[in-house]
Amino acid sequence: MRPSRAVSGAARRLADAGVDAARAEAEQLAAYVLGVPRGRLALADGFDPDQLRRFDELVARRADREPLQHLTGTAGFRHLELAVGPGVFVPRPETELLAGWGVARGLEVVDRPLVVDLCSGSGAIALAVAQELPGARVVAVERSPEALRWLRRNATDRAAAGDRPVEVVVADVTDPELLADLAGRVDVLLCNPPYVPRSVVVPPEVAGHDPDEAVFGGADGLAVIGPVVRRAAELLRPGGVLGIEHDDTHGTAVPELLAADGRFTAVAEHHDLAGRPRFATASRRPDGDRADAGTAWQTGSS
Ligand SMILES: C[S@@+](CC[C@H](N)C(=O)[O-])C[C@H]1O[C@@H](n2cnc3c(N)ncnc32)[C@H](O)[C@@H]1O
Repeated sequence: MRPSRAVSGAARRLADAGVDAARAEAEQLAAYVLGVPRGRLALADGFDPDQLRRFDELVARRADREPLQHLTGTAGFRHLELAVGPGVFVPRPETELLAGWGVARGLEVVDRPLVVDLCSGSGAIALAVAQELPGARVVAVERSPEALRWLRRNATDRAAAGDRPVEVVVADVTDPELLADLAGRVDVLLCNPPYVPRSVVVPPEVAGHDPDEAVFGGADGLAVIGPVVRRAAELLRPGGVLGIEHDDTHGTAVPELLAADGRFTAVAEHHDLAGRPRFATASRRPDGDRADAGTAWQTGSS
């Protein structure tokens, strides 16, 4: 069967199931089954009977709202293709902005920058930084055993591909003693924590397939962010910077948390391409230069 006919039928089925980008996803699944880049789908030979059966199975699973990335086994993140599947959070395009901000800040560090990625999941942020800042020492922290399996697999694959290996640390990021040996030495600290308030109803792909502990951040969504902000103030060197992703309802709450801590300056809020508040950044003040709680903060660009 010609790919275009099968794709049109699949796109209708996915749209009926409530999948937003139904046509694009049907094309991605067809390209995956045919083993061609999506851009060359129109030039591909038709499906043979086995391929058509496989395609139909995948479309049925996607119509059941299994994430596309679980079906193909990979998620694109900046310049990387990461292995993902059950037990690990699928990295999102909006987090590429935070990773890019971290890379840009790391480039400003003269000596080998020390970059820490808290709540590393698949390793998306840490591995993107390691690829784009080849001189950096990158430490990735995660506590979920299932996520750690994916993180280690991706870290091994990237090291084999020639990137500088990232250091994987198994720890709870809310531990007040987290990474004690790095206290006062970190140049760039990045974190995409679980931040969705518990009462929020999430799409079926998230509810059924992203781990709960990767998504929900307690009743108000700030259960992990609060301790991370406090620990970041201990880990960063004076002038070191923090970037933390948050729920789009927390565009005021997270900058306020940073400002209220008193140990940060240059607190700024960044929006994603859809204009939603997406991540907050700040810089560690020199010790002894503690601001009054409630320092003003500004909205920055991502
Ligand atoms: C939203 S996901 C982010 C994953 C990855 N950084 C990304 O951007 O795709 C949050 C991750 O934090 C981990 N996590 C949640 N609570 C944690 C904690 N207290 N300590 C360490 N990791 C935690 C979860 O297992 C999950 O992998």
